[in-house]
Amino acid sequence: MSRDRKQEHIDLALDRSMQADRSAFDAWTFDHNALPELDFDEVETHSEMLGKPLTSPLLISCMTGGTDGAFAINRRLAEAAEERGIAVGVGSQRQALEDEETAATFEMRKYAPTVPLLANLGAVQLNYGFGVDECRRAVDMIEADALVLHLNPLQEAIQPEGQLRFASLLPKMAEVVEALDVPVIAKEVGSGISPATARQLSHIGIRILDTAGTGGTSWARIEAARAKDLDLGELFADWGIPTPECIRELRELPEIDVLASGGLRHGIDVAKSLALGARWAGMAYPFLEPATQSTEAVVAKIDRIQHELRIAMFCLGARDLAALEQVQVRRRQE
Ligand code: FNR
Repeated sequence: MSRDRKQEHIDLALDRSMQADRSAFDAWTFDHNALPELDFDEVETHSEMLGKPLTSPLLISCMTGGTDGAFAINRRLAEAAEERGIAVGVGSQRQALEDEETAATFEMRKYAPTVPLLANLGAVQLNYGFGVDECRRAVDMIEADALVLHLNPLQEAIQPEGQLRFASLLPKMAEVVEALDVPVIAKEVGSGISPATARQLSHIGIRILDTAGTGGTSWARIEAARAKDLDLGELFADWGIPTPECIRELRELPEIDVLASGGLRHGIDVAKSLALGARWAGMAYPFLEPATQSTEAVVAKIDRIQHELRIAMFCLGARDLAALEQVQVRRRQE
């Protein structure tokens, strides 16, 4: 059942109609700088995450694992992330913890030995029998640099076999934060994290929040398609907080580093995210299709996004990420 679900998620996520109707980033714009006073070759995007260097502040967001097809995708994502020096995450490892035979399909460290690699579990699993031990095993399984706990109440509520016991999760997440040797990152999966939720997560010691806001992959649509209740998917398709707004709100929290994701589709969206206050930019959907093809296709996609980012930085007169952080990004006038 779970294996079928993984494949269905990939197949549906590849379908463009599962994307939000419009990009939340289109509402934001930069002032072009016709006199950047720097050479294109001077533009540089080096960054770091979890104590490891990155060639640019990019993450291939957590997606999959658990089947042969998912393994092929994970391997290509991992190889490409390693080749280009960016961060990469694995999909929910719940299946690997329940059925050890599938653990090999999550094995990305072998193919990405040096870059930041993120483990992943649904936070709600902490109400379904998982605890600190399982979280530790998920991290050890792939020698991860951090554990991502995803919060996905909307997805679970629409998913036919959804797990809906979301009560009293925060203290259990706090135990995990306390017990693990690696940092815990919290993320949504496409509905965003509000300032109030962010404060609760910050209070238990979480220091990195991944917005995963609205404007990209719609899990309401994907799960509604699986549930054969398309009306429900349309009703909730844009439920949540648009990614740019989410970044702006979360950057106000002093102890939080913001990872922007949800609807970033090219290097300009990355530039806008960083100028709005994010430290890193994550993408899932843009890497999924290339990952169904080859490692080279994923590498080409990374190169493309990095090139777009550098052009944007050049035309903003931003030599490096510190300069980009200072650039004004404005809400477009209607
Ligand atoms: C996801 N996403 C996801 N997130 C997570 O924390 N654990 C998971 O197992 C998965 N699985 C998954 C599968 C597939 C096929 C996709 C496309 C995505 C969510 C993902 O990490 C991201 O938060 C959202 O997809 C929003 O980003 P994009 O797709 O708009 O760039």
